[in-house]
Amino acid sequence: MCSARVGSNEELVPLILSLHVPTGSLVADVTYGTGIFWKLVPKAKYKLRATDIKTGVDCRKLPYENASIDCVVLDPPYMEGLYRRAKGHLAGAGTYAAFRTTYSNGERTSDGPKYHDAVLDLYFKAGLEAYRVLKQYGVMIVKCQDEVSANTQRLTHVEIINEYATLGFFAKDLFVLVRANKPAVSRMKRQEHARKNHSYFLVFVKTNGANPRGKGLRNGAARRLEGHTGRAERTP
Ligand SMILES: C[S@@+](CC[C@H](N)C(=O)[O-])C[C@H]1O[C@@H](n2cnc3c(N)ncnc32)[C@H](O)[C@@H]1O
Repeated sequence: MCSARVGSNEELVPLILSLHVPTGSLVADVTYGTGIFWKLVPKAKYKLRATDIKTGVDCRKLPYENASIDCVVLDPPYMEGLYRRAKGHLAGAGTYAAFRTTYSNGERTSDGPKYHDAVLDLYFKAGLEAYRVLKQYGVMIVKCQDEVSANTQRLTHVEIINEYATLGFFAKDLFVLVRANKPAVSRMKRQEHARKNHSYFLVFVKTNGANPRGKGLRNGAARRLEGHTGRAERTP
């Protein structure tokens, strides 16, 4: 298995699972959406818990016990156009309506940070919650895509890796998925950055604080968990 491939989510996800998630694992896909990730995964292979904001479960507040899940899969709306204060400003208007309903819950974002920071906010808070529900050495698979926001290159995958390291997640693997077709062209006068035709699947492992960079990062996660949920996991 190689780290980059041209293809689709439904082809790549089973390969990542086979490499990183043992058969029989309890897997929570917390942004299940239409379930494309699972289309080619044999049903009997994993114990799948599928939730989404559309089914009433927020990935920032999961209905699972501390340290009870083997693997969390996260794929929230990845672009700032899907986090807008007004519904009419959400990406995917008119003929692109299917895009909006597939990639988001189609609702406006009423509070919290704006634009690209809103994208990161959800990834970061969902990461913290995943850390809480994952067993020690549990695996977190995160899909994301970089974006140009306000004419500025935002390397979302780097921002996530850096933040998750402070939570105590070790970045074990990284996959680049290149789409076979061309990305949509937005109206622009002059091209400043290459158009994105790839996304990432990041594979993290919840470590016990023995992070390879050895800084006791686990404590940072524990502090934040207390602040956010009051349900900190107190492992030695
Ligand atoms: C990129 S799509 C996910 C696609 C999914 N992997 C699939 O196979 O269809 C993003 C999903 O995140 C969901 N979502 C948005 N905010 C959420 C939240 N706070 N908690 C849980 N799900 C959320 C949306 O409803 C949408 O289904």
